[in-house]
Amino acid sequence: MATIGVIAGDGVGPEVVEQGLAVLADVSRLDGKRFDLVPFDLGGERYLKTGEVLPDSVLADLRKCDAIFLGAVGHPGVAPGVLEKGILLKIRFEFHQYVNLRPVKLFPGVETPIRGKGPDDIDMVVVRENNEDLYVGAGGFTRKGTAEEVAIQTSINTRSGVERCLRFAFELARSRGKIKPFRGLSAQDRERGLVGLVTMVAKTNVLTYAHDLWMRTFTEVSVDYPDIKTDYNHVDACCMRMVVSPEKYDVIATTNMFGDIITDLGAVLQGGMGLAASGNLNPLKTAPSMFEPVHGSAPDIAGKGIANPIAALLSVAMLLDHLDAPKGSAAIRFAVGKVLAAGTPRTPDLGGSAKTADVGRAVRHALEAGA
Ligand code: NAD
Ligand code: IPM
Ligand code: MN
Repeated sequence: MATIGVIAGDGVGPEVVEQGLAVLADVSRLDGKRFDLVPFDLGGERYLKTGEVLPDSVLADLRKCDAIFLGAVGHPGVAPGVLEKGILLKIRFEFHQYVNLRPVKLFPGVETPIRGKGPDDIDMVVVRENNEDLYVGAGGFTRKGTAEEVAIQTSINTRSGVERCLRFAFELARSRGKIKPFRGLSAQDRERGLVGLVTMVAKTNVLTYAHDLWMRTFTEVSVDYPDIKTDYNHVDACCMRMVVSPEKYDVIATTNMFGDIITDLGAVLQGGMGLAASGNLNPLKTAPSMFEPVHGSAPDIAGKGIANPIAALLSVAMLLDHLDAPKGSAAIRFAVGKVLAAGTPRTPDLGGSAKTADVGRAVRHALEAGA
């Protein structure tokens, strides 16, 4: 039995989490596992009622879980950062979830806004460093509120933090290459035995301290992976290339801040925010990992029952992979693929008029049919 902590959170969070849990219930038997769900009441409503963001006792209870499934946090009535830093970032940091794994994969039948590109071209994974950089919250104000105000926010980069993230990226490229070698490799690359590509994305031309450390570490770590090709892009050029030639990417390894930005772009390549899943991983399993859609609480559509639940469903698939339940995760991806290929039902973000629950139900039907 595995314990899954569930943080439905704010806005569309509870709407998509409901569908995720229904699908989870349907696939758990496939791997012969039982999942004990523990709900955690965290988010804007609790904060507004009690002033509590994430009490230590709740954090201690979350730590006992085998994994966490989160919808989204962020509330229009709460100042920006209170919930995001106090819940999401706190969990990512406290539980040493040092990799934020964000696949960018276009499913057949889904339209990408990138002209002329299809599922064969858009199949990359972003390994976003998740415990350092500007997200650490190092900094402060002096003379706040005056004309002489100074605000400083420092990017923290440690050799060990960078190295473990990059090693994860190389290992991932290797394991992807075992299943299907990266198709962007040249014939010569293949003859040399290369199976995958890691592209490091940073800004070495400006951040000449922090990203010099990244580059030196990248070069050193790459020596241990002679079967993996390496490449480097500045982050601005990466944004351009993700649009113009997404097929050039296999695994991208990048910093926390840049990873945040390029994965919203990645979400759009794969059909929109409603489809992009993620895992905040503690690869050492010394604390639970957390799985969540890349999107936020989407206040503009919250309460209407029209949020696309697929990002949440694919996040459940990643959670199952992490809990060693590969049949369940494969079944979810297969069923999601079937519904997307069928073209209906679709929520408004994908051009349809279906409700969140309609899409969830269709995926569960597809699961039954595929079982
Ligand atoms: P957002 O991702 O919530 O929304 C961006 C756009 O995408 C909106 O137009 C929204 O309607 C659309 N969208 C998002 N999810 C969708 C879905 N499942 N189906 C259909 N359309 C969807 O980003 P934002 O508006 O910048 O942020 C809103 C709040 O969420 C803020 O408080 C922010 O801090 C927070 N946030 C939280 C997380 C998280 O909990 N992981 C992530 C991002 C943003
Ligand atoms: C994400 C979000 C978060 C981030 C925010 C809400 C703190 O944008 O998960 O991508 O910046 O990491
Ligand atoms: Mn983001």
